[in-house]
Amino acid sequence: MTLDATINIIRAIMPFEQVDVAMVLGSGLGGFADQIDGVSIDYSELPVFPDSSVSGHAANLVLGTVGNARVAILGGRVHYYEKGQADAMRGPLETIAALGAKQLLLTNAAGSVRNGLGPGDLMLISDHINFAGTNPLIGEETDRRFVPLTDAYDDDIANGLKTAAEQSGVELQSGVYTWFSGPSFETPAEIRATQNLGGDAVGMSTVPEVILGRFLGLKIGAISSITNMGAGLSDENISHEHTKAMAPVGAAKLTKLLKRYLENLVS
Ligand code: HPA
Repeated sequence: MTLDATINIIRAIMPFEQVDVAMVLGSGLGGFADQIDGVSIDYSELPVFPDSSVSGHAANLVLGTVGNARVAILGGRVHYYEKGQADAMRGPLETIAALGAKQLLLTNAAGSVRNGLGPGDLMLISDHINFAGTNPLIGEETDRRFVPLTDAYDDDIANGLKTAAEQSGVELQSGVYTWFSGPSFETPAEIRATQNLGGDAVGMSTVPEVILGRFLGLKIGAISSITNMGAGLSDENISHEHTKAMAPVGAAKLTKLLKRYLENLVS
């Protein structure tokens, strides 16, 4: 019922009948929402939406169009590390799926563990490693919980993002994202383990949303904005302040790329 109530509140202000694309903006990447001429509603007004407490995250839902695409932007994500709930974003994702979204574009700030992928670079997520030891579908009682993740990241979206990157003159590398629970950063040994396991970047988000998104039948595209090298790989210090300070470099490129991607969509 609260999902219905949430949907009704949103429908009352939504400038279109249904959403095509939903996006989640990561740490320091909230600027994309400012590009959109649309309506905004605070998470606190929406019953199934969580409170987001992490600085660097706006907690509002913005609905508007970019080109022909009808977009819902979830500015503000709740992380597993906040309350130990891997399914913290289930309510918002169920809401946008019910509003018709077919695609879910996820962005995050991440650390790189790969030479040649550094601060300010963008990485298209081609696959992930769940290194956090939990799953947002634990407790789901239906057989729908056995979600296949063979093709978790959608090829058509990935190709669309690559094309948009080329067209907008933004370099887009690609690689495997490894989810650590956080909130502490990794140790140098964990970073070396990630390299050995085949990971290219590390971060504290996104994977639960990918799993929930696939559970809900959404097609996924995801991009990491690299803010630092992983622990032990460089002399720079690693901190949330540093993540927020570095985020604007990648954010400017990401905004350009995503805007172009959405403009290319014909609905
Ligand atoms: N580790 C985990 N999460 C991150 C990092 C990191 O180095 N940088 C930005 N988010």
